[in-house]
Amino acid sequence: MKKCYSNIFAFNKKTLSKAIKHLKNGKVAGLPTETVYGLAGNAYNKKSIQKIFRLKGRPYSNPLIIHYYSLEQAIKDVEINTNFLTLFKKFCPGPITFILKRKISTKIHPLALAKLKTVGIRFPSHKITRSILKEINFPLAMPSANKSFHVSPVDADDVYDEFKKKIRLIIDGGKSKIGLESTVIDLTKAPEILRPGIIDKKILNKYIKFKSKKKFKNKIIRSPGMMKKHYSPGIPVLINQKKYDNKSAFIYLGNKYKSNKNFFSLSKNNNLKEAASNLYKVFRTIKKRGFKKIQISNIPNLGSGIAINDRIKRASKN
Ligand code: TXA
Ligand code: MG
Repeated sequence: MKKCYSNIFAFNKKTLSKAIKHLKNGKVAGLPTETVYGLAGNAYNKKSIQKIFRLKGRPYSNPLIIHYYSLEQAIKDVEINTNFLTLFKKFCPGPITFILKRKISTKIHPLALAKLKTVGIRFPSHKITRSILKEINFPLAMPSANKSFHVSPVDADDVYDEFKKKIRLIIDGGKSKIGLESTVIDLTKAPEILRPGIIDKKILNKYIKFKSKKKFKNKIIRSPGMMKKHYSPGIPVLINQKKYDNKSAFIYLGNKYKSNKNFFSLSKNNNLKEAASNLYKVFRTIKKRGFKKIQISNIPNLGSGIAINDRIKRASKN
């Protein structure tokens, strides 16, 4: 039976007004997006930003993504450029975050940006969050609605799982279709992907020119969310596993292991997009069932598989 929590609300006119009022008053809310659920607050308001960091237990050195309804709103805060406009036209609203230079005149609270001179901006496509963004005159700072280093939430119950009653308002917008966080691309100079997502480099390459590949080793962490310890289901994760150890939860692609309760297929027909959308839910289910370890078989490193491998590699670093 589906559990009902008093701080999870279905979306309707009444709860739309409630959410708007809530955010205008500097409070935070759990909101659905097409990627994962976010913990939203007024990006121009210091108190809202502080609440977000405090609830997440997030270091102030890790900047938040700022979410907008329209380009008109965003250009108040960032300097745009040709690459941005090309990608904006093609992919927005959608699951991509652009790192751009902030305008000196921006009203975004510096704490939200970890005092950086750049801003990560995103235009989410989820209808509910768009309808909220449309009605407020400030953008939303919105990291994924999970405690720092945990796995991101993909439905309202996952958000409840993370914060219980510590947040008063969670809007139920169904399961996030994509299920992995947005692609983060730095456009302050030659484009560079800082966090792979569903919109992958091969797709982006059709529209913009990337700089040639540099060695990753010893590079400064330019996107603080790229810290190795991240996206953790809270138990050890072993990747590229060939042999089942007879006790762990085993995550794989396909339908080889039909009925055993220890085996979790991310996609029965090897669809990598579907696999990406199931990964975090499977992590949570496994943890709840009390498994002590997760084994993951090889995931092809192409298309959405690149983003999956990025996340499971980080999960395995704990
Ligand atoms: O799909 C998403 O992007 C979700 C939904 C809720 O929109 N949000 C999300 O936010 O994943 P968060 O805070 O969990 O991850 C934001 C990532 C972090 O890795 C952060 O370091 C990076 O974006 N980031 C934000 N602003 C940045 C900046 N100015 N420069 C470099 N990296 C930045
Ligand atoms: Mg996150």
